[in-house]
Amino acid sequence: MKLAIFASGNGSNFQAIAEAVKSGEIDAEITLLFSDKKDAYVVQRAKALQIPVIAFSPKDFDSKAMYEAEILHLLEEEQIDLVVLAGYMRIIGPTLLEVFSNRMVNIHPSLLPNFPGLNGIKDAFCAKVAETGVTIHYVDDGVDTGPIIAQEKVMIEGNDTLASLEEKIHNVEHKLFPSILAKLIKTRQGENHS
Ligand code: GRF
Repeated sequence: MKLAIFASGNGSNFQAIAEAVKSGEIDAEITLLFSDKKDAYVVQRAKALQIPVIAFSPKDFDSKAMYEAEILHLLEEEQIDLVVLAGYMRIIGPTLLEVFSNRMVNIHPSLLPNFPGLNGIKDAFCAKVAETGVTIHYVDDGVDTGPIIAQEKVMIEGNDTLASLEEKIHNVEHKLFPSILAKLIKTRQGENHS
């Protein structure tokens, strides 16, 4: 099973997945990291792990469709089975979705359908809800709306700050994402062999 991970920023989830591949928890290969931000810290993480990096921006293209067509070409060339969005801060357009919709997984830092969008942790914190969490879901053409694969709750305590809540959420993400990917990949491998 060949994975492509898409990420735009820090890459702590990318790192957690890479470690789970290395330890054998996830039975797959990370064939490439794609980043829409050449200077993102995740690019340095991938280089340190000797994972091939492809990085270019939609600004390098005349349209989003052309940007995604180039990504699609690379994914098909590498025969990627599963695309993992780990902090990829862009909406996936029809060019990529038509080919990868049931093979593209995202992580979102809230209990969807609550608090979709760019600031899932902050929005839950400011709304003063008692609990939030982490969702892993398939990608569709909405913003954080695709079919849910798994969720884990995180309680917001009275003494939590935004920073402490962020830390709690990320700690859950770094365990949940690798373990759900491991299960999903195992299931798909079973289906391919039967
Ligand atoms: C994570 O909180 C993830 O849920 C969200 O973006 C963040 C990425 O963090 N989609 P990192 O780049 O993996 O550290």
